[in-house]
Amino acid sequence: MALADFLASLDQLSEQALAAFAAAGSQDALESARVDFLGAKAGRLRQVQQGLGSVDKSDKPTAGKRFNEIKALVEAAFATAQENQTTGDNRARETLDVTVPGRPVRIGRLHPITQTIREMKDIMGRLGFTAVEGPEIEDDWHNFEALNIPLSHPARDPLDNFYLGVGETMSDSPLLLRSQTSTVQIRVMENAVANTPAGESPPPVRIISLGRVYRPDTADATHYPMFHQIEGLLIDQGVTMADLKSVLRLFCQSYFGDDNTADDEVHVRFRPSFFPFTEPSVEVDMNWRDAKGNSGWMEMGGAGMVDPNVLRAVGYDPEEVTGFAFGLGVERICMRQHGITDIRALYQNDVRFLSQF
Ligand code: FA5
Repeated sequence: MALADFLASLDQLSEQALAAFAAAGSQDALESARVDFLGAKAGRLRQVQQGLGSVDKSDKPTAGKRFNEIKALVEAAFATAQENQTTGDNRARETLDVTVPGRPVRIGRLHPITQTIREMKDIMGRLGFTAVEGPEIEDDWHNFEALNIPLSHPARDPLDNFYLGVGETMSDSPLLLRSQTSTVQIRVMENAVANTPAGESPPPVRIISLGRVYRPDTADATHYPMFHQIEGLLIDQGVTMADLKSVLRLFCQSYFGDDNTADDEVHVRFRPSFFPFTEPSVEVDMNWRDAKGNSGWMEMGGAGMVDPNVLRAVGYDPEEVTGFAFGLGVERICMRQHGITDIRALYQNDVRFLSQF
């Protein structure tokens, strides 16, 4: 064999071997390329080496030297390919390592007020009160008139209410954003009376209503211009102030109940008060700790025995039935539960704050 042919076949083999090692995509592919080119018995390098015997004697030293160089080159290329394969495999294994802890998924949460509302519905539901809803835009009759709040009453002052369309469309009976959920009492009783067949007495009522109310109050630690109230109404024969007190105490104890240490036990206090639609009326206070940890009382709402004028206005006979009503501030109750000392924190939409609940 001519020296030139021998050298050419060596070059061709090294070129092919290097390309095959570089292209091997897996350990198995690389191994089969190794057997193909470097196999001790039938590898292609071995076959080329056999051609060395037929090279002219005078060319043998050159051919042998070149053969050894190419063999070293191909072996080195294989070693490099194998090393790449191993590190590459490790990398692949790392990305598939199922034991690596995953990234925590951020779970959405219900707003603390929504949670409070749901819990209140649950508790009052167990006490037999059905939840009903009423509109947030109200008329004069439901927000004032039927609630025994006459035209001259300061509660109607435009400075204390969000009237709609003042100046342009305000008529004798203006619309407004309701300033209290007591409006729903009127709607419920009116409906009950309207659905009572002539000659029969309207049925007992046992409802709660939860929703937004609006007042142009300046925002401070315990006031906000939009807040929520829970209204309760019970109308039946022989309902007394003792029933009102029991229901409110039961409600508060169920709501705050077992989470309180003896030191922080829930106390409910009634103070004589006045509301045009209840007589007698009380303010309902709950014990409370402020931001500095000082204990005191916080006003949670108002309550009382439904005024006979209100019963009459909606068609109940005050000689036949009596009833109690209460309206509590949902924010204040939520704040007391969680130790929130500023109502504004509930409406700043700071996820760091809200995600704690
Ligand atoms: C009323 O709204 C009466 N309708 C309650 C009532 C119902 C009395 C049924 C009798 C019978 P008052 O205006 O006091 O009452 O408000 C009730 C509660 O709402 C307050 O005690 C307080 O907890 C909450 N509240 C009042 N104004 C705000 C405000 N700006 N921000 C947050 N909470 C408020």
